[in-house]
Amino acid sequence: MDFKKMILEDREKERSNKFEGTLLDYLEIIKEDKEASKLSHKRIYDLIMEKDLEILRPEENVRVRKLFGNEIIKKYNFFKEDFFGIEKVLMKIMNYFYSAAMKGEEARQVLYLVGPVGAGKSSLVEALKKLLEQCPPIYVIKDCPMREEPLHLIPKHLRADFEDLLGIQIEGDLCPVCKYRLQHEFNGEYEKFPVIRQGFSIRSRKGIGVVPPVDPNNQDTSILTGSIDISKMDLYSEDDPRIFSLNGAFNVGNRGIVEFIEVFKNDVEYLHTIITATQEKSIPSPGKGAMIYFDGVIIAHSNEAEWSKFKSDHTNEAILDRIVKVEVPYCLELNEEIKIYKKILNKSNFKAHIAPHTIEAAAMFAILTRLSPSSKVDSITKLKIYNGEEIVEKGTTKRIDITELREEAGLREGMNGISTRFIIKAIDTALSSSEQHCINPLSIMESIIKAVKELDIAEEEKKRYLNFVQDNVRKEYNKILEKEITKAFIHSFREQAESLFNNYIDNAEAYVNKTKLKDRSTGEELYPDERFMKSIEEQIGVFESSAKGFRTDVTSYMFYLVRNGGKLNYESYEPLKEAIEKKLMASVKEISRIITKSKVRDKEQDKKYNAMVEEMKSKGYCDYCCDVILKYAANNLWRD
Ligand SMILES: Nc1ncnc2c1ncn2[C@@H]1O[C@H](COP(=O)(O)OP(=O)(O)OP(=O)(O)O)[C@@H](O)[C@H]1O
Ligand SMILES: [Mg+2]
Repeated sequence: MDFKKMILEDREKERSNKFEGTLLDYLEIIKEDKEASKLSHKRIYDLIMEKDLEILRPEENVRVRKLFGNEIIKKYNFFKEDFFGIEKVLMKIMNYFYSAAMKGEEARQVLYLVGPVGAGKSSLVEALKKLLEQCPPIYVIKDCPMREEPLHLIPKHLRADFEDLLGIQIEGDLCPVCKYRLQHEFNGEYEKFPVIRQGFSIRSRKGIGVVPPVDPNNQDTSILTGSIDISKMDLYSEDDPRIFSLNGAFNVGNRGIVEFIEVFKNDVEYLHTIITATQEKSIPSPGKGAMIYFDGVIIAHSNEAEWSKFKSDHTNEAILDRIVKVEVPYCLELNEEIKIYKKILNKSNFKAHIAPHTIEAAAMFAILTRLSPSSKVDSITKLKIYNGEEIVEKGTTKRIDITELREEAGLREGMNGISTRFIIKAIDTALSSSEQHCINPLSIMESIIKAVKELDIAEEEKKRYLNFVQDNVRKEYNKILEKEITKAFIHSFREQAESLFNNYIDNAEAYVNKTKLKDRSTGEELYPDERFMKSIEEQIGVFESSAKGFRTDVTSYMFYLVRNGGKLNYESYEPLKEAIEKKLMASVKEISRIITKSKVRDKEQDKKYNAMVEEMKSKGYCDYCCDVILKYAANNLWRD
């Protein structure tokens, strides 16, 4: 790594971004680059779109088809690395920015994110603020406390001419400080007013203003719109702008973002600035001064309880009318939820080993608590459907319409349940209490159970949550584990599965077409092997009467696949895949029982056992968790 090169390159970049000139110079720049003077909403919209997006169509993307039906999903690269399973939320946010960038009504509305704790509201705003910090610097009037757009210097009577010449619209008026300076320092010669380029910064409050919830007894509006500097009151008169300290969130957030954290914890009076800032695009100056033009994206967020309270008070209508509300529910898709935890864990300094399926088990629990109960399917099935998985029942993939489930669940789904933070804390606890520096699904479940017991929620709810871990998640994990160990045990699981598959397809095809099959080695003509086919079908509950239909389905599906250029393998048709895996698992049950009894193992069995351990280690287990998990399996699996 070449530090010096890095530093020099950065300095060069900074130098090339530097600009010190006058309004006159700035006008020349605008002539070449109209975009230089764009408003805040458009700036953010463009910055996100610059990183491009992927358009996912249901006819091309299986996941989209399964989860969203006929909808087209837009996946924005800007959010892709950090946000998971909330595509539709992001699309709504982007709709807001698009309309606002087009100067639609949204440009005069607050973007308000509401959702349960730990659903990612703050992180979303954080991402937008960071985006501004990384964008190229903008042109501002030098030393203006509002860092305002230099075009404000152009007097009203010349605006139309300038707009024609430049091909842009000029919006907004000079702030009182600059107005004063123009008269007293520059003698009204606005073209000489200095202009510089300056970036955004969260820390030094440049273009990014944050309003934390304030003490209701002390709702001093100076946090929002600045104050009067009392020390200067002796020097200047009361209406002299030189006594202003324009350092409120709306002042510093001009041209960028003003964020309201837990917005409705504040008094309504306090929020009135929001009304003028959105509707009139201006904010009051401290004292009795004139209004000041403001252009910024106002983003507020809070949880639902506060929203409901605020909404129920009809005196708040004026503000309610100026809000674009976007609900940010929890992620309900298992695979995406796992990504959230992996992202957070990657940022932490814990260096322990994490056994396979550990995060999965935790994520499963979180999602189960968030799903509304359904009358159509059980919770685990619903979780799988929401995860885009195929559900196999009685030999066919069960067609359950996800949109029906969503409708049944109503709009509240995802707005309740266990938070991301709860799970992360449970994982952290398991990590820090593991002496072997290794956590596994069992230790994570234990950690979750402990944490649930300590939760301050209704007894009924607690019972439901505990049941999810102790029953649903555990059973599901047992199934996963049984399959995994079997696969590790049958060294050539894949080959055996493929060979069963080919054999089955040959037989089923002959059966359906009422032909004979040719034995590949002897050339003998044989009748389809009824017993063999049955031994597979019975694994998934296909018996006598339904067997014919199943064989027809399989055969025509395979025919369809081949015709469409698909590849045939044992995983091609979900019900058959499940049947074959079960058949293989059943065939090793006997052996599995032996392997778990270490004392009575003979030499041959020992060899097999060791090979299995090696196989599991190659799949991500360490010595320690492999041992723990196998002991658990010995005591709990293959027991039906
Ligand atoms: N869908 C998601 N995708 C990626 N990360 C997420 C998602 N949901 C939550 N997180 C992560 O969970 C953590 C908590 O989120 P965050 O603090 O943004 O929540 P919040 O909605 O602001 O909660 P609160 O209401 O408690 O302030 C963060 O690390 C965040 O990145
Ligand atoms: Mg937050």
